[in-house]
Amino acid sequence: MRKVIYPGTFDPVTNGHIDIIKRASELFDEVIVTVAINPGKTPLFTVNERVNMLQESLKDFKNINVDSFDGLVVDHAHEVGAVGIIRGLRAVSDFEYEFQMALMNRKLASDLTTVFLMPHEKYTYLNSSIIRNLASLNSDVSDFVPDVVLKALNKKFSK
Ligand code: COA
Repeated sequence: MRKVIYPGTFDPVTNGHIDIIKRASELFDEVIVTVAINPGKTPLFTVNERVNMLQESLKDFKNINVDSFDGLVVDHAHEVGAVGIIRGLRAVSDFEYEFQMALMNRKLASDLTTVFLMPHEKYTYLNSSIIRNLASLNSDVSDFVPDVVLKALNKKFSK
């Protein structure tokens, strides 16, 4: 049983994240998508809201589960029995940060392997801040996020 975790802020989850999660679910027996409670950001959505949006977006996939964590990602990976950590690489600009994080995580827990997956190229320019910014300015983000996220953004910005 090969279980991996995919950690992130997911504020909110985008179709780019979903693309990575689906790819991981085809490679591993179970994927746990885990929402970071305190990654040093001030999120728009609460942890519960982010978890619920992920659960709703991924409800059709039997081997994908969603939870949240506080503290070190490697500790959470050990708690759930994961063998590795999934991260997405969208462009070269992601590499340095991801390289540093993967090496530090390997130093902290040499039994865990970070696996990098590339989303479809149509998602390479996406991130959650851009989505929040566009939605706050009344721009249509329906091509970039699951329906449940679109509804939540509309509600947040009271459209
Ligand atoms: N599609 C669209 N956007 C994507 C994406 C994809 N496939 N992959 C990443 N992104 C975006 C995210 O939306 C996010 O956008 P934002 O900054 O505009 O909000 C940005 O890229 C960063 O991605 P994310 O996966 O959310 O990373 P993060 O830097 O917020 O989170 C943690 C990183 C939570 C995994 C990391 O901080 C962590 O592990 N924290 C726990 C503490 C710890 O263990 N520290 C030691 C680590 S060495």
